[in-house]
Amino acid sequence: MKKTKKLVVGNWKLYIDTPKAAKALWKSVSTTARKTRKTDVVVCPPMPLLGLFAGNISGRVSLGAQDVFWTLEPKWTGQTSVYALRSLGVGHVIVGHSEVRALGESNEAVAMKVGLLLKTGLTPIVCVGERERDDKGQYLSHLEAQIRASLAGVSRQKASKLVIAYEPLWAIGRSADDALPPEHLHQMTLFIKKTLVSLYGRNIGTTIPILYGGSVESKNVAELVAGGEVDGVLVGHASVDAKEFSAIIRSVDDIKDVRK
Ligand code: PGA
Repeated sequence: MKKTKKLVVGNWKLYIDTPKAAKALWKSVSTTARKTRKTDVVVCPPMPLLGLFAGNISGRVSLGAQDVFWTLEPKWTGQTSVYALRSLGVGHVIVGHSEVRALGESNEAVAMKVGLLLKTGLTPIVCVGERERDDKGQYLSHLEAQIRASLAGVSRQKASKLVIAYEPLWAIGRSADDALPPEHLHQMTLFIKKTLVSLYGRNIGTTIPILYGGSVESKNVAELVAGGEVDGVLVGHASVDAKEFSAIIRSVDDIKDVRK
């Protein structure tokens, strides 16, 4: 397997709500990201604050968005246009986050967003994950069905541009001790890879980056990434604490890649 850079994505959710706080946090992240060698950093501010960073990308931190609307048609109120995101320099977009799915977003809507992003040259970070676990392992079939439906219509050729974020819902928004244990994460990484291989073949399926999200903090990130064999992390609450997020980026950058 070829070595690729790790990816650390900060999802600011609505935690940051003023330009002042957003600029200060961005500055701190940029300073840390400038010193990384093997890690790409993407930050996803809330929509109204995205414009602060348009054209002002340091080169080491890339701008991401937390969602997008699923059509190019302009006659919709209150939604976010993919073209508007692209014009601001947004390169990555989170789609299918469980907090958006909880408001009623279907797999079909997620698949339309994924298709639109790929068509317009943006990278979708497609969130998947089970709500809860059961002894019979039904959560695995649920997860597989969710992956297949969320990626419906994505061609083999376009699939190489995907990023998957595995976020078990029960682990989101808690603390490091509640995250998935690394050995369980490893099983899930293999399971997701197997599903991607069955969809897109070995060459593509094994190279689609898989991130982990759900209570990632500086204290657990290294063991999650190394033990879980993931390609990076999607960080929520810990991404809005400048010191904590810098420590996460540094920990990921320090991990030795032992995979062949
Ligand atoms: P958390 O959120 O890191 O606060 O658990 C992760 C996410 O929702 O993407």
